[in-house]
Amino acid sequence: MNQKYFTTPIYYVNGIPHIGSAYCTLATDTLARFWRKQLGKDNVHFLTGTDENSQKTVEAAEKAGKTPAEYLDSMAENWKNTFQKINVSFDDFIRTTEERHFQTVHNVIGKIEANGDIYKGKYTGKYCSGCEAFKKDSDLTEDGLCSDHKKIPEKIEEENYFFRLSNYQDKLLKFYEDNPEWLTPEKRKNEILSFIKEGLEDISISRETASLGIPMPNDQDHKIYVWFDALINYYTAVQDKPGFWNEAYHIIGKDITRFHCIIWPAMLMSAGIELPKGVFAHGFFTVNGQKMGKSLGNVIDPLDLSAKYGNDALRVGLLSSFEFGNDGDFSQENFDAFYKTKLAGGVGNLFNRVIVLIHKFLDGKKPQISGKNENEEFWNEFVSAFEAKKLKEAIDVFLRLIDSANELLNETEVWKLAKTDLEKSKEIFTELLQKLELASEMSEILLPETYPKMKAMLGNTEKVGEKGILFPPVE
Ligand code: MSP
Repeated sequence: MNQKYFTTPIYYVNGIPHIGSAYCTLATDTLARFWRKQLGKDNVHFLTGTDENSQKTVEAAEKAGKTPAEYLDSMAENWKNTFQKINVSFDDFIRTTEERHFQTVHNVIGKIEANGDIYKGKYTGKYCSGCEAFKKDSDLTEDGLCSDHKKIPEKIEEENYFFRLSNYQDKLLKFYEDNPEWLTPEKRKNEILSFIKEGLEDISISRETASLGIPMPNDQDHKIYVWFDALINYYTAVQDKPGFWNEAYHIIGKDITRFHCIIWPAMLMSAGIELPKGVFAHGFFTVNGQKMGKSLGNVIDPLDLSAKYGNDALRVGLLSSFEFGNDGDFSQENFDAFYKTKLAGGVGNLFNRVIVLIHKFLDGKKPQISGKNENEEFWNEFVSAFEAKKLKEAIDVFLRLIDSANELLNETEVWKLAKTDLEKSKEIFTELLQKLELASEMSEILLPETYPKMKAMLGNTEKVGEKGILFPPVE
């Protein structure tokens, strides 16, 4: 129980990271940072990475005039660099073309096969390479198009290996009954339960015609279906990290719950491997009310936001846009206003003012008054919010703490009080410093790049440090 393992989905490399992928990754990163602070660094493992055995890769590589391997290396590097640039503190970055993954996939599929859940049959149906998914007619639009990709899925008729997903219908229903909190939010669980109740069919898990991918263990001519291999990445990454698998927690987008909450647990049940601790499915961004997409030209690059506003603003700006778990909208204006009013005008201004005043009236010395600390409630609420994965709420608690300090400053007019009653003003400065200390503790998680600057401003036990600009003005 004293360890935690967090994962993000692994990303397809045929696109570049946008704020949707940054959102999921920064949310998971923020959870990992919170738990590292609570449990110690070594007790938390945070995995992200790239999903590479996809047919989309082959097409994208061709377009880029590269071999698939060259293309994959450069794109995986791009994703990794972007995550590093926006200060994602992953402990491991997995690529599904790595040898360690290949071995684990064979090991898991071997167990599923040994359990009698894999058989060979003929697949006749439709496949959308955009989704990397087999489609039922009921999944398509009236014109027979994939509703997400607006393309006619490819007709396929080939020999495939199948996984007996139908064997797991009752077991999955029983599992959800016994573990009602395994998949949250509740509305996602309800969707999954009704899907299972409609009846589960066996699924095709190999492609004879795919050129890229991990071959089936005993049949080189068949490549394993990309999702079947991709899900196993979470297990691959902790093969040499005893204790973590039992504490795995998947953070995913609501678009991929069927894979994570039906197929994946069924695969693990079949292989006799313990299931992860839970899954959380977050909502989707629209940009100014519209779905984000290349064709609409409204894809936002997280690196652009980070270059202008900094990584910490990117993180809390995205995470406070809407409740984690709901859908929400992102608008550049709201983001800009959040930066200016809450971060620069709220947090930055407060820290600077308090430090300047303590220099002015107390020569930079901290008043050594041992009063009681009234802020415990803020910390407790902050912790409860994180325990419930309510990331926006945690940021709101932090901002309320900042507001409470600004109110104290303004209501007491401590800059006037210090001239008439220095002793009384010392009590106020003590209270203000306590609030700033707590705000900096929360910032270690929420604003990790600002945190050391705050610490420097707060100085040592005797004196405060120098004034400083935490959030510089932007154009
Ligand atoms: N490769 C699969 C996942 C395999 S996990 C074993 C995949 N990749 S993806 O790159 O297409 O999308 C990954 C995730 O990116 C989505 O689940 C979602 O978390 C996130 N998002 C992509 N677009 C998004 C938004 N517009 N808004 C929020 N998150 C979005 O699916």
